[in-house]
Amino acid sequence: MSRRRTVIGNWKMNPTTIAEAFTLARARRGTPHQGVELGIAPPSVALSAVAGALRGSDVLVFAQDVHWEEKGAYTGQVSALMLRELAHGAIVGHSEVRRDQGDDDARVAAKATAALRAGLHVIYCLGESYDQRERRETDAVLARQVRDGVAAIDRGALADGERIAVAYEPIWAIGTGEAATPDQAAAAIAVLRAELRRCGLEGDAIPVLYGGSVTGDNAAEFARAEGVDGALVGGASLKQEEFARIVAAFR
Ligand code: 13P
Repeated sequence: MSRRRTVIGNWKMNPTTIAEAFTLARARRGTPHQGVELGIAPPSVALSAVAGALRGSDVLVFAQDVHWEEKGAYTGQVSALMLRELAHGAIVGHSEVRRDQGDDDARVAAKATAALRAGLHVIYCLGESYDQRERRETDAVLARQVRDGVAAIDRGALADGERIAVAYEPIWAIGTGEAATPDQAAAAIAVLRAELRRCGLEGDAIPVLYGGSVTGDNAAEFARAEGVDGALVGGASLKQEEFARIVAAFR
């Protein structure tokens, strides 16, 4: 089955000035990416500047997180209704957000529902920890994250599933320089797709990205791996040349 290919740069809490974010985003406009959906997820304070820098280009803007309510007394949060003026979509369920804000699968599903209802696209992150992999619980953890998370997204909001992609990000591979092997990624993604199907979702149609220490050197292996439709890139997405190599690997 042919699925859309997507590479997204998750800048996390970088860079530290809006001017720099603008300059980085301007540079990304020139990244050749024919055949690949290309996106950038800057910090929320830089969304407006980055959206401006990318206006008129087909490089997409993503938020790194979104709240599950539309508005109200939620200090420090940003809602999907606010984002839709600035962003094409939102990442939800990133392990760093789960860790720092206590998000569980149900809350991530609620965030995804809110984003989809507002018309945004969603990159739904999940993945096992080092300890879970060591205990050979990876498959069970992934299946649970699909069942209690992705499959708990409101089906009306999910509609035909065209606006969601899943990102498999093993926590032990994030920012460590120790990427999963392409075989490990392929095996995990096969488990994810099987569970999506079991839950009545279009497991074979939903794109699945890999994330975790993707570099210019290893991207081509992931691009060839079974079931990997793209990459969610952290550290390497801040470096123009290296990010361009990663994008090129998926073209
Ligand atoms: P790194 O590419 O820095 O490992 O980060 C991956 C990630 O968390 C992307 O969302």
